[in-house]
Amino acid sequence: MKVLVVGGGGREHALVWKISQSPMVDRIFCAPGNAGIAQMAECVDIKPEEIHKLADFAEQMQIDLTVVGPEAPLTMGIADEFDKRGLKIFGPNKLAAEIEGSKIFAKSLMKKYNIPTAEYETFTDLNEALSFLEKITPPVVVKADGLAAGKGVIVAVDKQTAVDGVKKIMGEKVFGKAGDRIVIEEYLEGREVSILAFTDGKTVLPMVSAQDHKRVFDNDKGPNTGGMGAFSPSPIYSEELASIVEKEILHKAVEAMGREGRAYKGVLYAGLMITSQGPKVLEFNCRFGDPETQVVLPRMENDLVEVMLAVSENRLNEIKLSWSDKKAVCVIMASGGYPGKYEKGKVINGLSDAETIDDVIVFHAGSRKEDGQVLTNGGRVLGVTGLGKTLEEAADKAYEGVNKIKFDNVHYRKDIGRNLSPRPSIRL
Ligand code: AMP
Ligand code: GLY
Repeated sequence: MKVLVVGGGGREHALVWKISQSPMVDRIFCAPGNAGIAQMAECVDIKPEEIHKLADFAEQMQIDLTVVGPEAPLTMGIADEFDKRGLKIFGPNKLAAEIEGSKIFAKSLMKKYNIPTAEYETFTDLNEALSFLEKITPPVVVKADGLAAGKGVIVAVDKQTAVDGVKKIMGEKVFGKAGDRIVIEEYLEGREVSILAFTDGKTVLPMVSAQDHKRVFDNDKGPNTGGMGAFSPSPIYSEELASIVEKEILHKAVEAMGREGRAYKGVLYAGLMITSQGPKVLEFNCRFGDPETQVVLPRMENDLVEVMLAVSENRLNEIKLSWSDKKAVCVIMASGGYPGKYEKGKVINGLSDAETIDDVIVFHAGSRKEDGQVLTNGGRVLGVTGLGKTLEEAADKAYEGVNKIKFDNVHYRKDIGRNLSPRPSIRL
């Protein structure tokens, strides 16, 4: 089989790494890929948003299966284009991907089908949103309706922060059209867990739990990032909780999407807050999480391609997922300054020393090769995953790998997978 993976970050490296282990696969392409991915796939210079070019490439190369990493091409309808051309693709179509593409759509779906989530109001008018804020007591959460690269959510402890957030999103349009409409919702307290599930629209197979660390500094301080690390499983995700989430959230959501004429196929990602009243949905994503994928896939014992083919051929009921007991921790090595301004093009040393440690996998997130050297090429540069019998051992392994790798101005958190106490009230 020939497989094409769309995307070029750490998640896509993990996908390519796992797909390369399938005995069914003899050639892997990745568009656009990165220096790490290039070790196991042929990188193709096409951007994820260039969906027609990608479909042309898949046709020319007779790709048997295309796997989409990021949300943007999915919300733009890449799966519809591939379906139209009779090309097999793993990922939801445009109507289904709206579960991530529009927070208002996702919230109204949850309300209509009684899926637990924070109370909320939606606004299309700046002044109405501002006068609503006058009537409520913070903390409150302000969310741009559309895609904003993970930056469209403002958790406001005080009224002024909420007002500023609404003005930025709806007035200054810092996220463009994504901010034409907003959601203002109840602040939920608890611990976050990410649950990713395979679904063909009928059968739902949840993967093992994970949690990411969004804040840039240790002890969850500083601004949000795309994710500074992740671990799996979440120690608070009990079997009882898992069965509630499966029944009350994942199955309900997939069934709801079917009833709405938006049959959902691919990976459904539920970002959950485990509150004292039970799990509530913070967000749905229409794809694998990043960096959750870098801790979930290394624990998966199935052939990923077999599972993806079963999804695309509507026979996921034939699959049983199996997981390693090993725990996983992924530490992101970022460029100094990220998520603000940072420099690119720093030489990365020590990669092969890290890669040769047992139970350590180095996933590249933003790297490129030049004159035989690997250079930094993004905010998040590498994700070093460690595996071990306990989360502690897995974290030790990950940091053993991290310590071998050097580049100028590197920044990483020292507490990934380590301080797993319940989330204190609010830290901003
Ligand atoms: P989202 O993109 O909707 O997952 O939001 C990004 C982050 O903002 C989440 O991972 C949470 O840490 C936080 N967040 C979002 N919604 C809420 C909420 N209702 N209550 C508390 N925190 C939230
Ligand atoms: N880790 C958060 C996300 O993938 O959206």
